[in-house]
Amino acid sequence: MKVVMPPSTMLNPVPVVMVSCAGKEPKKIEKRPNIITVAWAGTINSEPPMVSVSIRKSRHSHELICETQEFVINLVTEDLAKSCDYCGVRSGDKEDKFEKTGLTAIKADGLKYAPQIKEAPVSLFCKLKDIIELGSHDMFLAEITGVSVDEKLIDEKGKICLEKANLVTYSHGEYYTLGKMLGFFGYSVASKEALKRRMPSKKTKKSNKNANK
Ligand SMILES: Cc1cc2nc3c(=O)[nH]c(=O)nc-3n(C[C@H](O)[C@H](O)[C@H](O)COP(=O)(O)O)c2cc1C
Repeated sequence: MKVVMPPSTMLNPVPVVMVSCAGKEPKKIEKRPNIITVAWAGTINSEPPMVSVSIRKSRHSHELICETQEFVINLVTEDLAKSCDYCGVRSGDKEDKFEKTGLTAIKADGLKYAPQIKEAPVSLFCKLKDIIELGSHDMFLAEITGVSVDEKLIDEKGKICLEKANLVTYSHGEYYTLGKMLGFFGYSVASKEALKRRMPSKKTKKSNKNANK
């Protein structure tokens, strides 16, 4: 039996990211580099690569992003989870969140104002394309103009090994690390050889006939 609930934002799990931004005059207190935690974030296009973040008008970061038309999405690791939460419960109009968390703002290539967070394993440099007012939140649609990746995550063949980053996800108000790898894109139809190569420790089933049973 299913229990029917009132409509709500029950899509889970979702990414949780730290969005860094700054105003045009970063030396002024109200325009200094800032970090806002965002769970309403998503990939929305491949070519050009685009993302969205939905931010309430009341957030200090909303004003900064509108002013400069740029921001950086920083992925969150287990080590960064507490700072991520902190940036989601304190406002940058009252305090310097970089100073409070001990995180470091460094230049994001190709952006003029928004810094990236040095400690993040992956940062996406974003230029604003559009703002859609939805109700409680404004959705910022942006093009990813650059990506920076910690070199420790890149193997000798140039592959980005995100599984080594210990990324965090967010589900129904709680933070989690990712669990075990279950498969890869297309594994349900992959050949035995591909399965052996990509998932050597996993026993392979002969058929996927009962995959959904
Ligand atoms: C896990 C988590 C997710 C959040 N997601 C969003 C979000 O998607 N959009 C939003 O406007 N605020 C979100 N918030 C709230 C803001 O991060 C919070 O109000 C923050 O203090 C705003 O910072 P600012 O005033 O410096 O911009 C989230 C907070 C947490 C803890």
